[in-house]
Amino acid sequence: MRNARWRAASRAAVALAGAGALAAGMTLVLTAPAAAGTTLGASAAEKGRYFGTAVAGFKLSDSTYTTILNREFNMVTAENEMKIDATEPQQNRFSYGSAEQIVNHARSRGMQVRGHTLAWHAQQPSWMQGMSGSALRQAILNHVTQVATHFRGQLYSWDVVNEAFADGNSGGRRDSNLQRTGNDWIEAAFRAARAADPGAKLCYNDYNIDNWTWAKTQGVYNMVRDFKSRGVPIDCVGFQSHFNSDSPYVSNYRTTLSSFAALGVDVQITELDIEGAPANTYRSVVEDCLAVARCNGITVWGIRDSDSWRSYQSPLLFNNSGQKKPAYDAVLTALNNGTTPTTPPPTTPPPTTPPPTTPPPTTPPPTTPPPTTPPPGEGVCSASLTVNQWNGGFVANVRVTAGSSALNGWTVTIDLPSGATVTNAWSATNSGSTGTTTWRNVSYNGQVGAGQSTEFGFQGTGTAGTPTPTCAPA
Ligand code: G3I
Repeated sequence: MRNARWRAASRAAVALAGAGALAAGMTLVLTAPAAAGTTLGASAAEKGRYFGTAVAGFKLSDSTYTTILNREFNMVTAENEMKIDATEPQQNRFSYGSAEQIVNHARSRGMQVRGHTLAWHAQQPSWMQGMSGSALRQAILNHVTQVATHFRGQLYSWDVVNEAFADGNSGGRRDSNLQRTGNDWIEAAFRAARAADPGAKLCYNDYNIDNWTWAKTQGVYNMVRDFKSRGVPIDCVGFQSHFNSDSPYVSNYRTTLSSFAALGVDVQITELDIEGAPANTYRSVVEDCLAVARCNGITVWGIRDSDSWRSYQSPLLFNNSGQKKPAYDAVLTALNNGTTPTTPPPTTPPPTTPPPTTPPPTTPPPTTPPPTTPPPGEGVCSASLTVNQWNGGFVANVRVTAGSSALNGWTVTIDLPSGATVTNAWSATNSGSTGTTTWRNVSYNGQVGAGQSTEFGFQGTGTAGTPTPTCAPA
């Protein structure tokens, strides 16, 4: 409740400031902030959720469109502007103008943003479509790193990987140039995204994973379970939920959402549209999300039917003129009828440490006296390293942990075996790219509280092996 009121009040303040700038000297007429319960965003916020929409940047000059957007929604996804072809049209030449237009429009009005998407087999720029092997692996990890770093701190979540599973009964991965770089490409992308923007929730996003009995759903479920058990940094699963006669809404949808949530991830409905927009089906989707504590929110894939990628199905909540449809009323009513959460939703991603794989000891631990000298690392700092290796290249993530007192700057030394060469790094600066490499904190991660950690990473060619990093305070 406090959240919703705060957001509504801050929107009013933004509107006031904007109106004042535009109409200096004129009488100001203030529009009261939307009361909770009268718009999709405010009603969802009352239930600790968000309600979002896909936004096409070129429509931001359409006032009917922006009036509905600004009034109803508190989460935005760029429909195409953050995809690989848009953000890296030529290799290593990044283009953020259209994406930033959407991000700025949203954030300046108190809306949050879901990033969509860092790694996908589709909408690749032509230079990437022709790549394979370790060159492609380097290119996609560089893309993930650069784009996530560019938007660091601004996004609620990222769809790190989109649509990587095959349709049909195999339950396996979709064939693609990315998949052919090695089955671990997805986890490598998640690790690179976490290192680049530790504050964004990292999601796997897909379609046709809504029906619990479908092989594709089970394939993704098994991947997420595996990732959680091995500490791969995944925070959420996005269910696109494009419902139509080939892929209809089914009553086991709630089971799907709750089963994934039970793995320890958030679940989000990310691209909802329903052929014909039946009010009852929209109502059921909202009720299913509200029934699952870790269902953070719902995003519809467009505002008016005419904005839809499937406009011929009239699948959205507003008609071509921007009028509310019966499905809109059903959604709003379902949001308002839902139970109010007693605790606010977490604002930070859940910890990604894997659950213990060994049972707790049944005998009490030995009562040896405490050591008289501090264990290694205590009082100073320690570093640990994980490596994702493939034929010809690697990505390394390094975790720096402060000992019993806070760090005000740190240095990590890593001896790389011969043949390994660092080609790119994030969240640290290095001297040396072969042999003995020394890594210094950057401006934003030198201060580490006692017992707290920070991360940096690098990628390279050759074989990294498993060197033991050493850490020293700066
Ligand atoms: O902007 C150009 C325009 O200049 C050109 O004249 C026209 C000719 O075809 O194309 C326009 O670009 C189109 C773009 O949408 C903007 O309208 C692309 O061709 C078209 O391929 C692109 O389609 C998008 C589609 O993803 C591409 O895969 C849809 O808008 C977008 O809604 C859709 O979104 C996807 C999600 O990202 C992932 N899940 C499925 C969902 C629906 O397909």
